[in-house]
This record gives sequence, C-alpha cells and structure tokens, in this order.
Amino acid sequence: MTEPVAIPRGLPMERDAGPFNPPSQITQLRETRPVCPMIFPDGHEGWFVTGYEAVRQLMADTRFSSRQDIGIIHVPFETPGMPVQTEPSPPEPGLFISMDPPDHTRLRRKLIGAFTVRRMKQLEEHITEITERQLDHLASLTPPVDLVAEFALPVPSLVICELLGVPYTDRETFQANSTRFMERDISLDDKIAAYGAMMGYLTELVTRKRAEPGDDILSDLARHDDLSIEELTGAAFLLLLAGHETTANMLALGTFALLEHPHQLAELRDNPDLMPDAVEELLRYLSVGDLFYRYATEDIELGGETIPEGSTVFVSLLAANHDPKRYDNPDTLDIHRNARGHLSFGHGVHQCLGQQLARIEMRAGFTGLLRRFPSLKLAVPAGEVRLRTDMNIYGVHALPVTWTDTAR
Ligand code: HEM
Repeated sequence: MTEPVAIPRGLPMERDAGPFNPPSQITQLRETRPVCPMIFPDGHEGWFVTGYEAVRQLMADTRFSSRQDIGIIHVPFETPGMPVQTEPSPPEPGLFISMDPPDHTRLRRKLIGAFTVRRMKQLEEHITEITERQLDHLASLTPPVDLVAEFALPVPSLVICELLGVPYTDRETFQANSTRFMERDISLDDKIAAYGAMMGYLTELVTRKRAEPGDDILSDLARHDDLSIEELTGAAFLLLLAGHETTANMLALGTFALLEHPHQLAELRDNPDLMPDAVEELLRYLSVGDLFYRYATEDIELGGETIPEGSTVFVSLLAANHDPKRYDNPDTLDIHRNARGHLSFGHGVHQCLGQQLARIEMRAGFTGLLRRFPSLKLAVPAGEVRLRTDMNIYGVHALPVTWTDTAR
C-alpha cells in the first residue's frame, strides 16, 4: 500500500508540464494510484481520484454526495481560517450544484426547459449576432489588445446576462465579486465579503423580478411560488457565475492553445465544419473546470480501493481527461480525434446544465475570431502569458494579441 500523498498547501497547481497539461505530480499519481488517499493542508485525510474510469464512476454515483462546498463559498481544507468540516455542509438555498437528490432534482427540474438542445438551437442565431457585434468592437481597436477583456469575457457575460435578465451595465458588481470567489488564496473574510455583495445585489434583482416578472429565465423561475427569495437568489448566483467564468476561460485559453498549434488553427480557419469536433477536443484538452469535491456517504468501492464513509473526495477532471487508458496521446491537441465522452462538463445528475449554451458560444466565438482576424497572433512570447494557476477555474489572466488585417 502506498502512503497517503501529503499535499503541502493545496494540490500542485504549477503547470510544470506546459500550460495545457496536468501538473507532472498529478500525472504521476494517476499512473501509480488513480484512486489515492491524500492529506489536505489541515492534516485531514481524504481521497484524490484522477483515473478516467474511476472519475466517471464516481460522478455517476450519488452515494458520493455533492453537499461539499466546491469553492463557491469556501474551499474546505484549503481556505485559510476555514473550520474543519466533519460532515456534509447544509446546502445553501438555491445552490443546487451542492445538493443531492431530491433537493437537487426539485430545483434543476425547474430550469431544464430553459437549457434544452432545442431551446439553445433557437437561440443560436442570436448568440452568433452578439458574438459578431463583439468582434466588430474588437476590430475597431488598435492592437495589441487583451483578448480576455475585449472578447472572451464580454461574449459569455453578455449572453448569460441577457438570458437571465441581469442588466449587463451592472457587470462591474458581479464580475469583480465573482472573480474574487475564483481566487484560491483569498482569505475567508474576503470571500464572505464578496459573497455578501453578490447576494445583496441578486436578492434585490430577484425580488424585483418576483414583483414584475419579465421575459427571461430568472423571471420564469420567480413565477414558481414554491421557491423562496433565498432560493431564487442562490440559483441566480449559480447560473450567473457558472454561465460566464467557465466559457470565458475556454474562449481565451482555447485561442491560446490554437495559436500554439498553427497547423490545426489554419485547418480550422479553412474548414469551419471541423469546429464542433475541435470544440469537444479543446474542452477535453483544456478542462478549465478541473477540481471538484464529493463526500462519501457510506463505504464505497472505487477502482479497487475502499473509500470509507465520511471521506472528502477530490476529483481531477483534467487528469481524467488526459488518461492514456481512455485517449491515445492524451497530452496532444488533435482536433481530428473523437473526444466525445470527455468529462469536462462532469457526468451524472450534476452534468453541466449550460453545456449546449457553452458549445454554441464556443463554436460561434472561435469561428468568428479565426475568420475576422486572419493574421491573429500573440503579442508577447507564449512563456509570458499569465496562467490562472491561482484560480479555481483555469485559463489565462490576460491574452495580449495583435493582428495586421481584419476581414468580414
Ligand atoms: C455544472 C463545467 C458552462 C451552468 C457543471 C459541472 C461542470 C461544468 C464540470 C459539474 C459540476 C459537478 O458535478 O459538481 C462547465 C464548463 C463550461 C460550463 C467547462 C464551459 C465551457 C456553463 C454555462 C452555464 C453552466 C454556460 C450556464 C448557465 C451550470 C450549472 C451547473 C453546472 C447550473 C450545475 C448543474 C447541477 O448541479 O445540476 N458545469 N460548465 N455551465 N454548470 Fe457548467
């Protein structure tokens, strides 16, 4: 039996194997023991799951409870000052990502209709229009510019604001506070302050929507009398946060990855029909939402190990998506591979509610960007791009890009 891995201060986050690959320590761990005991920084013992099969099995098994904070309010065992947890946290009202069935089912069911493939197909044209308008804005700037600030963040923010009925003009409030949550090293006090500011803002918003519902997803939710204002606020918080942080980082890190693979980028520019498969591969390869928590509600067999009841379990989707037992040459970006089955949107009852929306945004975003900026390139050496190793959702803090000409 291998000894538990001691994790000195959170998991290794430095990308020593390149900006797109898992940290080498995590890869090594997956090769030696894909379901492995680990010691959290506070001395608390838990488990770390990195193998594709084990991660998939775990996410499909609701005996692994999601009632474990996942970094939205506090990151257990990692946030300085965070009390040690000995049992699942009471769910925050409305935050159904941290709930188990039937509480989870009750809330998720009310939202499914708004995010179906059919509904998203109806919205595709409109999302493409929003994307093209943002590309017009980008083209009007004098390069070099930061692609995150001018394109990758505005597109999903504009889209989710419109769908939810959140005024985009209030973005300063919710973007700044949601960025604070994503910081791994933030103090508990700062995290609570950012959470309080965001919840205050959203409580007012959903209270207005309950009084005067409009034509948007939060208004539709507010029409359900059996949901309290606290539940509406929590659900709004989850949708707003999940709806822009993840896709924004995929757009920016995805562009960085394509610029670093110029042959594949050229192929995609010449043949946009390759885009849907390329997006799946980028989702797999980059896995921007990597680390998730679960909690074992009973003794559970997984990958030949027994995870005892009460254990905190940490899951790496990035490690799973780079498992050579599932994908050949997993550390290579290959837009021609069939990447379906990747776990980047999770698996099981919590599988990403917004995945069709995210796919449409990414297809429209990458296709438009490549078409309109035929000479797009990095404005700094690749080694100088600031990676988000300090954040809960991976990506780049900024992506300085430049170009010499634009097209329609
Ligand atoms: C859940 C990833 C975009 C809303 C999840 C989960 C993952 C994920 C891995 C599962 C979490 C778990 O099992 O604990 C991503 C990625 C995205 C993305 C990589 C972009 C590329 C979006 C968008 C929305 C969204 C655009 C818009 C509303 C949600 C919600 C959940 C969720 C509400 C919770 C579902 C539940 O608990 O039933 N996402 N997501 N996501 N995502 Fe996304």
